[in-house]
Amino acid sequence: MRSFTEETGFFGNSDAEQLVREYGSPLYVYNENILRERMREMEGLIENFPFTANYSIKANSNLEILKIALEMGLNADAMSPGEILLLQKAGYPAEKIFFIPNNVSPDEMRFAVERGIILSIDSLSQLETFGKHFPGGKCAVRLNPGVGAGHNEKVVTAGKKTKFGIAEADLPQIFEIAKRYGLHIVGINQHVGSQILDTTPILEAVKNFLRLSESFDELEFIDFGGGFGIPYHKLNDEARFPLEEYKKELAKVLSDYAAGKKNVPLFKTEPGRYICAEGGVLLGRVHAVKTNSGKKYAGTDIGMNDLIRPELYDSWHDIEVIRNGKAVYGTETEEISVVGNICESGDIVAKERNLPKVEEGDIVCVLDAGAYGYSMSSNYNMRLRPAEVLVRADGSHCLIRRRDTYEDLLDRFWA
Ligand code: LLP
Repeated sequence: MRSFTEETGFFGNSDAEQLVREYGSPLYVYNENILRERMREMEGLIENFPFTANYSIKANSNLEILKIALEMGLNADAMSPGEILLLQKAGYPAEKIFFIPNNVSPDEMRFAVERGIILSIDSLSQLETFGKHFPGGKCAVRLNPGVGAGHNEKVVTAGKKTKFGIAEADLPQIFEIAKRYGLHIVGINQHVGSQILDTTPILEAVKNFLRLSESFDELEFIDFGGGFGIPYHKLNDEARFPLEEYKKELAKVLSDYAAGKKNVPLFKTEPGRYICAEGGVLLGRVHAVKTNSGKKYAGTDIGMNDLIRPELYDSWHDIEVIRNGKAVYGTETEEISVVGNICESGDIVAKERNLPKVEEGDIVCVLDAGAYGYSMSSNYNMRLRPAEVLVRADGSHCLIRRRDTYEDLLDRFWA
């Protein structure tokens, strides 16, 4: 057994026990070095062509992380007006934000248009709406490249079984609507799905997408979407996404595409998970250890309201057990389920795992919780959402979002 947090010096000059004592439990902790490393990798995905990596902030929209991404040269994609507001607060200028909403009202479209932010249109019906409200306007359209992939059917966002994108067969109608309203389609975007570790579907989609792009004559950018996977089974040495191999193959595809063209549009990608999953862990305290019908449970304060991925997608997150600030590992293990404090039997962070013998008072450290962790958290059961702490590059740590308070919960009512 290994300890990722010890190998990476995840907690800097501190340790998990000290952080939980100082900031409380459960607690999201991020490591700035790992975040920056992943941002650097994504920033260098396409060389020799104009390129921007747009951080897909739905994965983790903590303001401090947005600021780091901006400093690292990343642009961003936003899915909602709220995400746009956050990005602006973090200092992103309009031209660094790409709005990729789904099924929005004219007011939400206006929210972006008034700010000079380009938005992507996801259906013929929304293109009509955009045309009616913003005749002569500029926009992008989200196309379905016909290839979908992902770790769970809920996150496959292209292909035949998804609400997203405009199909190739509908291209003539895009041009008809654009003509009728004098619209300029300056960009096209796609997104195949999420947590893809195999380059084949992504490259196939890129090729299809580039072929579709030839039908457009005003393109300023082509956005290939995100979806790059991370090794959630890292304690068992699962292979990483083959980034170098992908870079090489993508470079070949792009050179073929560019051959003989006078102008090549700006290329974009939209990684979310890859940027921030591995740079985040979720710490929780074990408050009970029990056996029910022969099955052992470690009862923690990590509820499905804090991290919903295991319940929603049956997702796997590696677990480390930490005692007195040190990872416990060795050969002696027992089967145990790590569960939370929510009123559902499905409230299971990690089911039937072989872990070192867990004791009351231990800290459970859920790895790879930096993406779709806090951003999907809720107040279910009227639980307080956790605090977030950043371990800086110099090993120091600071609070980057306070824990909810009971006042936060009560303040939303006026009677
Ligand atoms: N661009 C678009 C248009 C997207 O819909 C998404 C994610 C991304 C980019 C970023 O994808 P990524 O690089 O993170 O795979 N909550 C799920 C993942 C949902 C992803 C939805 N779309 C999970 O926890 O696995």
